[in-house]
Amino acid sequence: KRTAVLISGRGSNMQALVERAREPSFPAEIALVLSNRPEAAGLSFAKSQGVACAAVDHKIYAGREEFERSMQALLDLHRIELICLAGFMRLLTPWFIGQWRGRMLNIHPALLPAYRGLNTHERALADGVKIHGCTAHFVVPAMDEGPIVAQAAVAVLDGDTPATLAARVLEQEHLIYPAALERLAGGSLHILGNRVFCDDETE
Ligand code: GRF
Repeated sequence: KRTAVLISGRGSNMQALVERAREPSFPAEIALVLSNRPEAAGLSFAKSQGVACAAVDHKIYAGREEFERSMQALLDLHRIELICLAGFMRLLTPWFIGQWRGRMLNIHPALLPAYRGLNTHERALADGVKIHGCTAHFVVPAMDEGPIVAQAAVAVLDGDTPATLAARVLEQEHLIYPAALERLAGGSLHILGNRVFCDDETE
């Protein structure tokens, strides 16, 4: 399946997706990397790998709809079938999300439904939780909600700072996000209400 990865910055999750998708048996191909920030570091990586990439600078558009229509045109041009949001820092409208219902994933650096939004590692440390992690989920209009495809937990250590915790969570993001895309592109996921079932999960 032709997949676009939407980024705004560093793009390490995008990199993990591009690397996994190179495996010949992987059911998705990263056919486009799209950034809303022309200077995003991730774009140079994509370019160096020969992956088609583009920037749609949200700042030059009058509003969200115009910005999204421009992205949608590019996605159509590249015949994109699936989207992975990977550190994409723009809120999307219900219109855009509706176009991609059941075909768009996000990676979030917390164990949803805990710690929606930003600064998840700081907040987890401030709360003193002992388990933290990341979530790959389908995108629905409400931010950081939507049926959960995969999660990974990490232990919070006594010496953790937001940065050390983020780094350990990020390692897990790089594992579960490609695995979630593999299942979606392979057609083995089914959504029932808030739950996602996977055909090829062993019983
Ligand atoms: C990741 O922690 C991801 O979970 C969050 O934003 C960060 C993006 O990092 N949504 P990168 O650009 O993939 O390196």
